[in-house]
Amino acid sequence: MAEVRLENLAKKFDQVTAVDRINLEIKDGEFLTLVGPSGCGKSTALRLVAGLEKVTSGNVYIDEKAVNHIPPQKRNISMVFQSYALFPHMSVESNLAFGLKIKRKSQEEKMQRVKWVLDLLGLKGMEKRLPKELSGGQRQRVALGRALVLEPDVLLLDEPLSNLDAKLRLRMRTELKRLHKKIKTTIIYVTHDQAEAMTLSDRLAVMKDGRILQIGTPQEIYERPTDIFTAGFIGSPPMNFILGERLPFVKREEAMVGIRPEDLSVSLEKAEKSILGKSSVTETLGSDNYLYVDISDLLISVRLKPDQKIEEDQTIWLVPNLEKIHVFDKSTGRRVQWAG
Ligand SMILES: Nc1ncnc2c1ncn2[C@@H]1O[C@H](COP(=O)(O)OP(=O)(O)O)[C@@H](O)[C@H]1O
Ligand SMILES: [Mg+2]
Repeated sequence: MAEVRLENLAKKFDQVTAVDRINLEIKDGEFLTLVGPSGCGKSTALRLVAGLEKVTSGNVYIDEKAVNHIPPQKRNISMVFQSYALFPHMSVESNLAFGLKIKRKSQEEKMQRVKWVLDLLGLKGMEKRLPKELSGGQRQRVALGRALVLEPDVLLLDEPLSNLDAKLRLRMRTELKRLHKKIKTTIIYVTHDQAEAMTLSDRLAVMKDGRILQIGTPQEIYERPTDIFTAGFIGSPPMNFILGERLPFVKREEAMVGIRPEDLSVSLEKAEKSILGKSSVTETLGSDNYLYVDISDLLISVRLKPDQKIEEDQTIWLVPNLEKIHVFDKSTGRRVQWAG
């Protein structure tokens, strides 16, 4: 177990700044996720922690020890990649034991640790199988097992669930969470999938263009995003954005107002401090139904109450929960204080 600290960490590839002076503390035993769109520098940041890339500037500390000049194999870190390549001609057992062999562990210790991982990941009975004789989820667990068997201080996971189908991905999410509760290893997880980040993490760091925009618990970030990008990136369907000048209840010229679909309700009669619109289609996502509403050039999503049905092409009024609206400065993108 260990804590990791990134201090003004930066990485440039020729002209591209992949990671732009990020600062981040990952606590001992924490599950922290770097989340952001493709190309924002998540993998590069992880590779800098692992020592697979040389830093351009800044520092990586593990337990307050600067590790910039320590090679990857001496950092006691394990990394699992999106494209986890298992050795195809080796059994599950040999795949799991491989890293320990490299580390010249005794036969007894190897067997003990491999057994521990087989138990931990529900792979008992599959010791002799080849990777091709496993399902996608089982292969993914072997890849994870190969990292865990080394008992790393820090486990780095780079989009490890992306190659799985949607259903399996959901199941592996719960498994990963349970696994972390059990082993309490410090985990830095990378994903572009905000839902995955929200459900798995103790805290997340939202990245864009090589920078960290916000760090917080899933709830903090959902309830109080500090900028327009984070506000729109976290949550599904995404937050609606409306220029403040179009809303009678926010009298601020520079404002961009964000309202989540669940913070709007639909009224068939004119209401105070509401937004006039016309109903469009309803999208049914099992338990939650979302109505799309045209307000001139914008399409706004609204979560309907259970059993609420709204016909298409009706004149309706959207009533926001004013305590839950988010106000941003449209030129800087930063959150601004706003008192009802
Ligand atoms: N080895 C490399 N050489 C040049 N550019 C790279 C290299 N690795 C990553 N980049 C660039 O750095 C940026 C961040 O990439 P990456 O860290 O892979 O993003 P993410 O994992 O968030 O998708 C991208 O613009 C990418 O093209
Ligand atoms: Mg990546």
